[in-house]
Amino acid sequence: MARKRLVVGNWKSYIESPSEAHALALALRRKARALPGVEVWLAPPYPLLPAVAEVLESSPIKVGAQALSASPGGKHTGEVSANMLKQVGAQFALVGHSERRAQGEGDEQVRAQLLQALQAKLTAVLCVGEHERLQDGSHFSFIERQLVVALDALPPKAKVIVAYEPVWAIGKSAEEAMQPQDLEQMAIFIRKTLVETLDRSAGLKIPILYGGSVESANTHALLIGGGVNGFLVGHASVEAEPFLEIIKACK
Ligand code: PGA
Repeated sequence: MARKRLVVGNWKSYIESPSEAHALALALRRKARALPGVEVWLAPPYPLLPAVAEVLESSPIKVGAQALSASPGGKHTGEVSANMLKQVGAQFALVGHSERRAQGEGDEQVRAQLLQALQAKLTAVLCVGEHERLQDGSHFSFIERQLVVALDALPPKAKVIVAYEPVWAIGKSAEEAMQPQDLEQMAIFIRKTLVETLDRSAGLKIPILYGGSVESANTHALLIGGGVNGFLVGHASVEAEPFLEIIKACK
């Protein structure tokens, strides 16, 4: 069965002002209606999330968070809980992004965040990715561990998406991104791991996204040759036109 393609824009900390966030959300809301067949989700920084959710309230574009706390609300200074996010309009949350893991978030903490997201009825977009590719193929076992620790024994209906984001390919240009044939190999491996870790039909249903220097120049080739269901886009998602080009290429 053909899945609707999904393009998630991860604004990271690129957008800092409410007016900039408002203008971008508005531009995407106007244009996204004309792009059926592709789902578009946006992950603005925390303080901008409620305003972006408001702009997109009656549009098909969903809004979510770039991260969340591994704990429920309580004595956790500076933490943002899943329930808080839900109440300000988030519908999903990224968990385990490599830029968060680089701050010390380990596999167990990522699992705890994922469980918090699911408990609050947020879709969890689980990010996994190796730091480098070695001749011995050890990046496959690295990805397997990240997936298994996060997903082991989840209920079959848990709303999870996997975003494969090799760390070495993030924040560069389309020429330096992953090649479609390498992505396809990894997408097959991730699918196999999902089927083995979860119940078979759940493992087959989970969308797999690719992230890491997705730009309009490489979108089509990665989509057709890479065997993925969509993309997690960073730097190319923070201006309307380049992001819309990527969305169009997914139609
Ligand atoms: P990039 O970031 O598209 O700028 O490489 C992707 C990501 O880190 O989510």
